[in-house]
Amino acid sequence: MNADGRSRLDQMPQWNALAKHRDELGEVHLRDLFADDPGRGERYGLQVGDLYLDYSKHLVTDETLRLLHELAAAAGVSELRDAMFRGEKINTTEGRAVLHTALRAPEAAVIEVDGENVVPAVHAVLTKMQVFSDRVRSGDWKGHTGKPIRTVVNIGIGGSDLGPAMAYEALRAYTARDLQFRFVSNVDGADLHEAVRDLDPAETLFIIASKTFTTIETITNATSAREWLLSGLGAGQEAVAKHFVALSTNAEKVSEFGIDVDNMFEFWDWVGGRYSYDSAIGLSLMIAIGPDRFREMLAGFHLVDEHFRCAPPQENVPLLMGLLGVWYGDFHDAQSHAVLPYSHYLSKFTAYLQQLDMESNGKSVDRAGEPVGWQTGPVVWGTPGTNGQHAYYQLLHQGTKLIPADLIGFAQPVDDLQPGLVAQHDLLMANLFAQGQALAFGKTPEEVAAEGVPEELIPHKTFKGDRPTSTILARELTPSVLGQLIALYEHKVFVQGAIWNIDSFDQWGVELGKVLAKRIEPALSEGAEVPGLDTSTEALVARYRSLRGR
Ligand code: F6P
Repeated sequence: MNADGRSRLDQMPQWNALAKHRDELGEVHLRDLFADDPGRGERYGLQVGDLYLDYSKHLVTDETLRLLHELAAAAGVSELRDAMFRGEKINTTEGRAVLHTALRAPEAAVIEVDGENVVPAVHAVLTKMQVFSDRVRSGDWKGHTGKPIRTVVNIGIGGSDLGPAMAYEALRAYTARDLQFRFVSNVDGADLHEAVRDLDPAETLFIIASKTFTTIETITNATSAREWLLSGLGAGQEAVAKHFVALSTNAEKVSEFGIDVDNMFEFWDWVGGRYSYDSAIGLSLMIAIGPDRFREMLAGFHLVDEHFRCAPPQENVPLLMGLLGVWYGDFHDAQSHAVLPYSHYLSKFTAYLQQLDMESNGKSVDRAGEPVGWQTGPVVWGTPGTNGQHAYYQLLHQGTKLIPADLIGFAQPVDDLQPGLVAQHDLLMANLFAQGQALAFGKTPEEVAAEGVPEELIPHKTFKGDRPTSTILARELTPSVLGQLIALYEHKVFVQGAIWNIDSFDQWGVELGKVLAKRIEPALSEGAEVPGLDTSTEALVARYRSLRGR
């Protein structure tokens, strides 16, 4: 029993039943599972909105799924889900509600935090964003010298960067092509330098995106951007109003920085950074794709929210995806999870998911603060197919590690491609289907031998197979489909955190490095003494100073 009165996960009978089932399954191969069930490919498929999930190539049987659902029920996943949707403070270590779902709720919805309906405020900010976006897009919003804006630079980091940057790439085909968008996050001055070096300050708008407005990287870059702008324009502080807007929960800090709070787009502490790009944090995206497309995206999110909230467990796609991850992490000892989108537009999708998943579920104490005795979040990694195939897929196919993977693809390329490029789409998707097949079924030594391969090469050319994948297929990557996809992963992460009994909505693990960096910085610049520095870091600091000629 835990301090919070809950049975420990690894002492639940449902957990032990899964461990026993895993032993019984032994080395049953996916080849056998398919041979024994001719309908498996069709039967193990689910649809949510525009997304079809094929989960037939997983190392599971009906019994596995039954036991996983029993675990979810015993762990109270649906109760925690309902508490989240109701606005309860399920982020207990920060005492906050977790209500990114309210960001895409329809105007008539009522969702209360501390007795107050938050939905009207969400829609008021959306309207303010819409008015501003329309003005920038139409050229009506003028810079200090009277010129319209041609480039939007979003300055933010983590959730205040990855979401808008990922979604901008994903929906590039829908963007206003006469505007440029850049995303600056790294405190390495090279990032801002490269982003602005060819820009005219008179035509540049900076969006400073920071939930707290205290994040050192963002405030440092924003300060440098302001210097660049004012010196480029030869203007004083009065120029800031036309070239800087802020996205934040912290009006006081925004105004301290010198941005008029009229130019601030608000969100709330119940929106986690990594769950925030459909809040005001998405302003750059709204300017890029326009308010209507942005609202289509929100509707896509909402569709999957409703599915997660209402669909029965056996048809609930995020629930199933979460359970499959638990199955591999905790009962197959898988350490990582690959996300492999077969869409160039999703080039930043996996980087986005890394924060969503790893910052949420990279925890090793449970909600009561006791060490967990089970695996929690996996290492999430991957790049778009087919590039990965020519880099690291070797290890996926023949390495010693079990790495479950998600293959994501679309039936249609987005419009505006020249006909020859449209034709390439079949080749792209043939690769996706081929990889799922090769990973699952491999190639036996007998099959290799039958091709006349010399005896000594047979082990090298054999593919064991039995490597699990999900395939997510949709007709086309639209704003709504992107919203659906992101919500799917958000809720998958939620399910896993609920089962592992961890707080998926705090991120205390990022704090120590921030504090130490603040302490070390004066040692680098001024040679200040840092009390308690270890000898390794001390020697590195001294070497750094000498390399800098200090
Ligand atoms: O340091 C981690 C983190 O707090 C993330 O959770 C967050 O997305 C990022 O920093 C940026 O924070 P902010 O939006 O407050 O600048």
